[in-house]
Amino acid sequence: MIRLTDLSKTFDKGRSYAVRDLSLEVQDGETLVLLGSSGCGKTTTLKMVNRLIEPTSGTVTVDGRCVTQHDILPLRRSIGYVFQGIGLFPHLTIEQNVAVVPKLLGWPSERRTARAHEVLSLVELDPKVYGRRRPGDLSGGEQQRVGVARALAADPSHLLMDEPFGALDAITRDVLQQELLRIKRELGKTIVFVTHDIFEALTLADRIAVMHEGRLEQVGSKREILARPASEFVRSLFAKPKAQLELLAAQ
Ligand SMILES: Nc1ncnc2c1ncn2[C@@H]1O[C@H](COP(=O)(O)OP(=O)(O)O)[C@@H](O)[C@H]1O
Ligand SMILES: [Mg+2]
Repeated sequence: MIRLTDLSKTFDKGRSYAVRDLSLEVQDGETLVLLGSSGCGKTTTLKMVNRLIEPTSGTVTVDGRCVTQHDILPLRRSIGYVFQGIGLFPHLTIEQNVAVVPKLLGWPSERRTARAHEVLSLVELDPKVYGRRRPGDLSGGEQQRVGVARALAADPSHLLMDEPFGALDAITRDVLQQELLRIKRELGKTIVFVTHDIFEALTLADRIAVMHEGRLEQVGSKREILARPASEFVRSLFAKPKAQLELLAAQ
């Protein structure tokens, strides 16, 4: 389980807060979607979980232990991270990109390659076709699959995904969303998924945490949030998609 307690981050000595007093629990095996518009603090929150950013105050615990008490390598092994944007190393082959964390962990080369092939197959990329290519030779959707495979390579129990499908066309995004749902069913990971897209949130989430200007507005199941928005902000956020859905349903 991942637990954030009174988490705050300021980058300008307290003049403004990227994240303010955020408390949140992510249960084992659930997909929690952090939903909010650009600049509301989603990436900062995610990066405080695996210590890419240190909080100004508050704590993060993973499986009951404060992340500052974990050694960085085992922490990063237990938490896969899919970066915003694509974030593959352009000079490395797909196989090498996928095996970055296993290499850091000192796995021997045969085990790394075997594992890279396994996770590439899991995201439906044939390792024989793609393994030796470089990221520049892949489509955006294929690169994003590699990003997911890389995050899964060391078999983490938690996955943090920062707008992983944000740069893709709508059709490719739909396919990858469905594949993520399948992977989640197959592997049972705990997932924190960041997006600004309400439909994506509704497609993927077990629970949604709505953020606004660094603060948590509401967290709850899709049904709870749609039926009982905790604030005018949350109500209006879902009002338009709800009207669209009702229109589509009536057709
Ligand atoms: N390294 C940084 N230095 C200064 N300000 C930052 C830094 N990272 C993020 N911020 C600021 O913190 C706020 C939240 O950013 P971010 O977490 O990236 O939002 P989101 O991912 O929701 O778009 C923004 O105002 C952003 O400009
Ligand atoms: Mg972001």
